[in-house]
Amino acid sequence: MNEYLTNGSIWTDTEGNVIHAHGGHIIFHNGTYYWYGENRTDNNYVSVYSSADLMNWRFENNVLTVSSKTASHRIRTNTMLTNEQGGKINIERPKVIYNKKSSKFIMWMHVENGVNYDLAACGIAISDTPTGNFTYLGCFNPYGYMSRDCTLFVDDDETAYFISSSRDNADMHVYRLTDDYLNIDKLVNKLWQGEYREAPAVVKKDGVYYMLSSYCTGWDPNQCKYASAPSIVGKWSTLSCVGDSTTYRTQPAFILQTETGNIYYYSDRWNGDDYDDSRYVILPLIINDNNAVHLDYQDTITIK
Ligand code: DGJ
Repeated sequence: MNEYLTNGSIWTDTEGNVIHAHGGHIIFHNGTYYWYGENRTDNNYVSVYSSADLMNWRFENNVLTVSSKTASHRIRTNTMLTNEQGGKINIERPKVIYNKKSSKFIMWMHVENGVNYDLAACGIAISDTPTGNFTYLGCFNPYGYMSRDCTLFVDDDETAYFISSSRDNADMHVYRLTDDYLNIDKLVNKLWQGEYREAPAVVKKDGVYYMLSSYCTGWDPNQCKYASAPSIVGKWSTLSCVGDSTTYRTQPAFILQTETGNIYYYSDRWNGDDYDDSRYVILPLIINDNNAVHLDYQDTITIK
């Protein structure tokens, strides 16, 4: 049993296998946390692990793979899970949310053709269960826009937002999703034009929205910045630095507010030379009464 996790070390699941959940996301459903993330080994795209305590993770399934089922969708999408050369496509930053109306688990992700980053598309997949095989519904460019690094955020009223880097990463777009979370309803905000933010991660505390994001330097870490807003569709603050100049050699993956109310910054410490050896760093995310956000490095973490 893990009493603590050592940041930046190799983390293994309950079977002793390396955890591959990069660029990921955690949801809480019926008493269990589910951690989804990129798994680029073999024919896999996205894997999911489960945990009751956020410290010990059981491998559940490779939920999206080269041979996942595909289905046509009411919007026109590209449902290819391999590229023209027959190789793997590139699926990054998978995020999963639960739709209470349809009782479905909906995944949104960044999709590229596995050769370059020109597709700049978002993809959708759907499942009846959190650990089930997801059916891929394909990828598309929302309203024709480029869409790269992304996140999902579900508000208190169950309205969901898909947030992604657009215009070659120059601008951050905020899209409101349709009630079934299977399409974009409206582009509701364009943020920080020309500031080239990626790796967005959102949390809401005491009615205020906070978004962390990185600058664009490929796999190399850079200065994380944050902004806050009283309304996700309204006016956001300008960007302020958080953490050190490389954000302790990390890039945001997502922000988790646990069932006890504690807030954590989950991040990737990428290894651009050996992607599968990329590691994770989790730090407490401190939000002060004056809406200032702080991250301090610590070698180990016990999540509560
Ligand atoms: C930074 C992004 O945040 C990652 O998800 C990945 O796309 C790398 N760039 C690729 O260089």
